[in-house]
Amino acid sequence: MKIIGTGSELPSLAVTNEMLSEILDTNNEWISTRTGISQRRIISEESLTELAVSASKKALKNANLEAKDIDFIICSNTVNNYVLPGLSCIVQGELGAHCPCIDLNSACSGFIYALYMAAAYLDMGKVKNILIVCAEEPSKMVDWHARDTSVIFGDGAGATVVTQGKNLKSIHLTTTCAIEPLYYQRELEYNPYTHKQEFKPLVMNGKDVYKMAVNASVQDINTVMKEAHVTQKEISFYLLHQANVRIIETIRDFLGENEDKFPKNIHKYGNTSSASIPILLDEMNMNGQLKDGDILVMSAFGAGFSTGACVMEWSNRMTAAEPPQNNKM
Ligand code: COA
Repeated sequence: MKIIGTGSELPSLAVTNEMLSEILDTNNEWISTRTGISQRRIISEESLTELAVSASKKALKNANLEAKDIDFIICSNTVNNYVLPGLSCIVQGELGAHCPCIDLNSACSGFIYALYMAAAYLDMGKVKNILIVCAEEPSKMVDWHARDTSVIFGDGAGATVVTQGKNLKSIHLTTTCAIEPLYYQRELEYNPYTHKQEFKPLVMNGKDVYKMAVNASVQDINTVMKEAHVTQKEISFYLLHQANVRIIETIRDFLGENEDKFPKNIHKYGNTSSASIPILLDEMNMNGQLKDGDILVMSAFGAGFSTGACVMEWSNRMTAAEPPQNNKM
């Protein structure tokens, strides 16, 4: 598998820490020192579907492909206005694509889970080009009266197009059921045969999540690097889930790595859940920061508790002439 196109889209409204301190008992100093976030983008006028479609169109353009060339759409999404149909189906219609679609909800780890699924689909040899779009609006899950969760998250969409190739060097996923540290319950319809449903806006035990995130990410990174037979010296960049700058820094400390290998955009966008890595990847691609042959480690963690990491060699050269192949990961 290889990535041949990236795209991203963010809401127009930038909500600064100062703006939050006007509606919540918080302040810029606390938020920026505890999380590294200065502002986040929040959906106001636009819809999540519009962001997902725009990010997808950009990724297709970057891959030099059209909607008709897409053989599968995988959409990583936690909440949107529709429970059904899946957001992937809505994106397909807006793009004018004609291919099977599936949604996956693996919270903030969704991009790595989508890569894993895409690699397996490509391995079957039935599809050639897969669009992965991660579209998230955690602003619809948090309690905007509670300062502990609302300051951390932001909305956004990141997309990639993947095709057959030999650039995915290793990939590893873990899931360990742990509901209490991070969950969200949505309100469901009245049913005369059951008691009233209780529901809760996003609940997060920040300290537990912090510890689980650091431990899991360090372990996952070591696992995928070992499986890919790469050393730290060979890694160009570590693209970590943009959850909290202190989490990223603690992981970097454990690995004993240089700061410039850990690109960050959390200060601008907050934690955009599964969209954070593809948005970061797209920014780096568009800024010309990625060179053919760069070795990237990507690592994400989130509710579940689910985690995933992979080693990917960067190459955005088109391979339109390459026939489908049953490449092994
Ligand atoms: N503004 C001001 N004060 C706040 C605040 C806010 N937005 N949120 C919490 N506080 C207060 C708390 O009430 C507490 O006050 P107290 O000491 O008087 O009780 C104090 O700040 C410390 O809170 P604490 O929760 O101990 O802070 P922390 O250092 O653990 O940082 C997080 C909190 C949430 C930033 C941190 O735990 C974290 O980032 N965890 C991981 C979260 C994450 O990544 N989630 C997504 C995973 S995908």
